Amino acid sequence: MNNALQPTILFFDSGMGGFSVYKETRQLLPHCHYLYCFDNAFFPYSEKTEEEIIQRTLNICQKINRTFPLDLIVIACNTASTVVLPALRAHFSIPIVGTVPAIKPAAERSETKHIGLLATKGTVKRAYVADLIAQYAQHCTVEKLGTTKLVEIAEQKLHGKAVDLIALKKELTPWETIETLDTVVLGCTHFPLIKEEIEWCLPQVRFFVDSGKAIALRVKHLLSKIELLPKNAEKNLIFCTHSFDDEMQFQKVLHFWGFEQLIRLDV
Ligand code: DGL
Repeated sequence: MNNALQPTILFFDSGMGGFSVYKETRQLLPHCHYLYCFDNAFFPYSEKTEEEIIQRTLNICQKINRTFPLDLIVIACNTASTVVLPALRAHFSIPIVGTVPAIKPAAERSETKHIGLLATKGTVKRAYVADLIAQYAQHCTVEKLGTTKLVEIAEQKLHGKAVDLIALKKELTPWETIETLDTVVLGCTHFPLIKEEIEWCLPQVRFFVDSGKAIALRVKHLLSKIELLPKNAEKNLIFCTHSFDDEMQFQKVLHFWGFEQLIRLDV
C-alpha cells in the first residue's frame, strides 16, 4: 500500500455491533479513512428474511459508494455475511470482507471438544454455518443458541444504557448446566461488546472466540494488494438509516469511537 494514499473502508452492520470489528481494524490500521453504517431502520437483523437482508445491504453499500468511493467493504455482521457476500461480490469489484462465526479456531482451541455457537436466530439456521461446522468441527459436540435479546442488550449498552444482567442470564440458561462446554464462539459482532457480562453468566467456559482480530489482519493483507485511487483526506463518518431518540447524546459515543459526523441515509 502506498502510504500517501488513504484507503476508504466501509464497515456495515444493523447496529453498533460492528464496532467490535472496526475497533480491531482501526487499532491495526489507524490511518485509514473510516465510514461506518448501521441500518437502524431495520435493526435487528436476527429474525429478518435472507432476501430482505440481501436487498438492504446491497442498496445501502451502493448508495454510500456513489458519494464516497470505497476501496474495501467489511460486512461487520455475521447475520448478513452468511447470506449477502455473493451478491455484493457480484456488484462490486473492490474486496468485500465478511464476518462469519469463528468455528475453526474454537474447535481447535477447545480441550473438551464441546463448543457453543452463540449467534442471532438467523445465523444459527444458516446453511453457511452448517457447512463451517461440517468442515471444521466434526470432531466436536456443537451447541447452538440463537438469540435476539442479547443483540438488543448489547445495542443498548452502546447507546449508554445499563445492561440488564437478569435478562442476559435468563437467555443463557440453556447452557448454564453444560459443564463440559469450554469454548464459546461469539458469532454475532454485538457479543464481544458484552463479553464480560456473558463470561459472568457462563463461568465454566474458558475460551470466548470472535473474528475481530482475524478480520483486521485480512483487511491489512487485502489493502496491501490493491491499487488505491488518490483522494483528498476525508472525515470519518457514521451513517444511520433512521432518526433516533438519543441522537444528541450519541454524538459523544460517535466521537469516542473516532467519528466526526452522523449522517442520515434515505433508504
Ligand atoms: N451484529 C449482527 C451480527 O453479527 C446482527 C445483529 C442483529 O441485527 O440481529 O449478526
